[in-house]
Amino acid sequence: MSYDLEQIRRDFPILQRQVYGRPLVYLDNGATTQKPRCVVEAMTDEYYNVNANVHRGVHFLSQQATELHEQSRETVRRFLNAASVNEIVFTRGTTESMNLVASCFSEAFMQEGDEVIVSTLEHHSNIVPWQLAQARKGIRLRVIPITDEGTVCMDEYRRLFNSRTRIVSVAHVSNVLGTVNPIREMTEIAHAHGVPVVIDGAQSAPHMAVDVQQLDCDFFAFSGHKVYGPTGVGVLYGREDWLDRLPPYMGGGEMIKRVSFEKTTFNELPYKFEAGTPDYVATTGLAKALDYVSHLGMERIEAYEKRLAHYAAERLQQIPGMCLYGPMAYGAEGSGPISFNVKGIHHLDMGTLLDRLGVAVRTGHHCAEPLMQRMGVDGTVRASFGLYNTLDEVDVLAASIERVCKMFA
Ligand SMILES: Cc1ncc(COP(=O)(O)O)c(C=O)c1O
Repeated sequence: MSYDLEQIRRDFPILQRQVYGRPLVYLDNGATTQKPRCVVEAMTDEYYNVNANVHRGVHFLSQQATELHEQSRETVRRFLNAASVNEIVFTRGTTESMNLVASCFSEAFMQEGDEVIVSTLEHHSNIVPWQLAQARKGIRLRVIPITDEGTVCMDEYRRLFNSRTRIVSVAHVSNVLGTVNPIREMTEIAHAHGVPVVIDGAQSAPHMAVDVQQLDCDFFAFSGHKVYGPTGVGVLYGREDWLDRLPPYMGGGEMIKRVSFEKTTFNELPYKFEAGTPDYVATTGLAKALDYVSHLGMERIEAYEKRLAHYAAERLQQIPGMCLYGPMAYGAEGSGPISFNVKGIHHLDMGTLLDRLGVAVRTGHHCAEPLMQRMGVDGTVRASFGLYNTLDEVDVLAASIERVCKMFA
């Protein structure tokens, strides 16, 4: 399959939309991505022709729905190159996956005074779950500082390990700055201390090939809706030996083997972590989306999106008053989102006026308030790219920013 941008754009009906009488330029892919026709059609087809609860019925439809659901798990396994489908837990998204790990891991393996290492770059969903564990168990958060360029300080990271360190939990790619963390190096260091590593992959899984065995991480979380799949479904990859040792997250149907009022035994992996009816239609949609990006080729998507982001960084930096943040502002490698402010214009004003010009971006703190504090701002404008964006759209973004600047001149 070649990277046929026109064909790709035809696969996403929403991209033909106009907003305020202008062609939509959708640059909010870090928040959520648009859905190709094949994802919506697969889900519609399942609702129309297959729908039945999974893992329960002896009847034909239930068996067919179960088969689809389990095939989707195999698709996710292949996408991440996990060793076994037992390591693929379906959740509602990255947030739930991160909460699951923080809650179950701290419950089983952390005592008062034990430490988790996170970084300054984290999304709130990799901060607050650990703070909930802090309130429950008295654990401590240790934070890896970042450089002014927005990369983690590896020497500081090394120095944070001590006899109380129990786990490292870091983003693969920053949702604000596009920084790509050196995960392989980070897992190597953590493992040398006998400490497991959780990766928040919400902003990497949609933009680059992820191989959990190559990264050598112990847990990896991502959201379906950010990788061209439906909302309401996500994934937690967990190394089998770790998942085996963790207690269940929620109790209910599906996750048990036997229940009596005296004693309950839990189901095998991955069902131990999947209480209740899963969103089996969404898992079908997710698998379709992963097939779609895999057919295009994750390496090709990564190369193309990097070209877009670097072109955008270059083009935006020509605008007077532009303050671009993160590694790409310094000509370094980055991925996905770019964040900026223009001197004298509040990010919310910039975002609102860009919207009127048909350009959808996100403004504010991007659920990364500690990072904003480190950067000394209360928010930024963020343009985040997807596989269907074009260089022309980057030009529209730049021209629209220039137009807004003129309004404030
Ligand atoms: C880095 C990162 N982590 C976690 C999340 C949370 O994802 P979700 O809201 O799909 O659970 C996001 C969403 O923006 C993100 O960018």
